Amino acid sequence: MKLNIVILAAGQGKRMNSQLPKVLHPLAGKPLLGHVIAAARTLEPEKIVVVIGHGGERVNKAVAAPDIEFAVQAEQRGTGHALQQALPYLAKADTTLVLFGDVPLIHAETLRGLIQQGKGVRILTAMLDEPQGYGRIVRKNKQVRAIVEEKDATTAQKKIREINTGIMALPTARLAGWLGKLTPQNAQKEYYLTDIVPLALADRVAVSGTPANDAWETLGVNSKMQLAQLERHLQQRTANQLLEQGVTLADPARIDVRGEITCGRDVSIDIGCIFEGKVTLADDVSVGAHCVLQNIDVKPGTRIEPYSHLVDAVIGANCRIGPYARIRPGTTLADDVHIGNFVEVKASDVGAGSKANHLTYIGDSSIGANVNVGAGTITCNYDGANKFRTVIEDDVFIGSDTQLVAPVTVHRGATIGAGATITKDVAAGNLAISRAKQISISGWKRPTKKAKS
Ligand code: UD1
Ligand code: MG
Repeated sequence: MKLNIVILAAGQGKRMNSQLPKVLHPLAGKPLLGHVIAAARTLEPEKIVVVIGHGGERVNKAVAAPDIEFAVQAEQRGTGHALQQALPYLAKADTTLVLFGDVPLIHAETLRGLIQQGKGVRILTAMLDEPQGYGRIVRKNKQVRAIVEEKDATTAQKKIREINTGIMALPTARLAGWLGKLTPQNAQKEYYLTDIVPLALADRVAVSGTPANDAWETLGVNSKMQLAQLERHLQQRTANQLLEQGVTLADPARIDVRGEITCGRDVSIDIGCIFEGKVTLADDVSVGAHCVLQNIDVKPGTRIEPYSHLVDAVIGANCRIGPYARIRPGTTLADDVHIGNFVEVKASDVGAGSKANHLTYIGDSSIGANVNVGAGTITCNYDGANKFRTVIEDDVFIGSDTQLVAPVTVHRGATIGAGATITKDVAAGNLAISRAKQISISGWKRPTKKAKS
């Protein structure tokens, strides 16, 4: 069956108390609207039309893609009026599915089920213990007769627990006619999309209401409180999936995945870790407490110790990173590399078996295999205007507290004595020392405090 999808996203979201348009607030690291678009795409529709209004330019910029069209609703005059703005963009598909940009947890499966409920008006409903604020589904002899907004409802109608989630599948060919007949005669003086129910019934078009299996899927975000609740729910869902796959989580309530995480066998993750973007943890990888990993590929058997921060990097097999390590974008570590505490590595390649265990900055460098970088070593890659590369070949030993002033190359097997400032290339196998000769003065008297006169 051919399908259009319209996502309503023009509302302001006053109760968020924020400059950011509501649908751009992030949930698990992705804008609310991004979640809805992702669900929409899996249904492979002919068209996805997003209705924008409040902060429309920002919303457009944030989610623009070749498969998305934008309809502008300059003034927010209600959900029916919003859908009307999308009509010129629709394909002649049988069904038009309406989604809300602020209902992010909806599953594609649920939507598929809804679309398959015949050809008429198909409304996704939910049974809520606290239905306040929602439109209520009014049924007679089990048939849906109307949707009444909270503000227009009678006391008896307010007791109805079945609510309109806002998500509905509609016969495209009928939309222009029905939407043209809506009037704003209601408490909010808006063109309610929900008022098409009696219009459909008058045209002898079937109207069905199907409750969602999981009410969480249908919850909208209107406040920061609700955003936080959905965030927790989504994180718990992700944690459960990881546990089912066999990942060990020290506490499933204390992990945050703001992107995609792929784990091999026997991966273990301690508390307080945040995974952003695309993260891959191969077999037997362990991540210590309170680490942040963003776009990181970790090969098998590597241990990341607590409080490490890794961004846009590839980490080889059987490495040991941290505690307190910082790996910055453009870094590739080969296998068996050790990066220890207070070591920062940026835009550098480090060869197999090399170690930088303490208090070091490695930037814009190529480091070979089996290199030992002593404590306090710094690659001086920046002259205040330009950046230069440092090359350290295989089997080099760099003594503690060395500065390597780039561009500079230390050739294979060379040794640098502690406390050196290396400004010229060092030939293979040589020892380079640059510190002044130590002198010792006997009988040295330290200064003493002068008596006040
Ligand atoms: C709407 C439904 C209500 C349902 C509830 C579910 C109507 C009349 N009411 O009420 O039955 O229970 O959602 O959450 O449909 N929007 C626009 N342009 C507008 C107005 C709204 O794009 O002019 C968008 C908003 O950005 C939002 C969605 O439509 O994504 C819902 O709007 P909102 O104002 O939250 O509707 P509710 O009053 O919650
Ligand atoms: Mg709402």
